[in-house]
Amino acid sequence: MTTDVAYAICSFNDIPSRRAIGFQLMIVAEDGSHRPWPIFIIRWGKQVFGYLNLCPHDKVNLDWERNQFLDGNGLRILCGKHGSLFEIGTGMCVDGPCKGESLTPVALTVLDGDICVTGVTLVEDDDDGEDETGLQCEEG
Ligand code: FES
Repeated sequence: MTTDVAYAICSFNDIPSRRAIGFQLMIVAEDGSHRPWPIFIIRWGKQVFGYLNLCPHDKVNLDWERNQFLDGNGLRILCGKHGSLFEIGTGMCVDGPCKGESLTPVALTVLDGDICVTGVTLVEDDDDGEDETGLQCEEG
């Protein structure tokens, strides 16, 4: 089920340039069920890149220390488990056990200073909206 709705995940300024933050989201699957959708967003200057937080090698989350997605130089995405390195701009693994495979990209757009995900239906959290992600910021 795809949708034109963009969901605000965080403010553009919440992520310093050359840093990444992970988000535990829930999406509505094709069959209507809800499933976890862990993603992370990297900001690089004025650009943002989003990927599923899932290493293609062993299907585990990449940040073995919370929100530590980048290597020591801050130039590549690092899988904390076995050290695969991925290009920030493409998600392509350039070194390590899953060399040649890619992270799954997440479509992002920046609207009114918010980083939004598109192309999915997020489960919106109505209970205690305050600090939660999944705020709908525009209908297209
Ligand atoms: S799980 Fe990421 S390199 Fe092995």
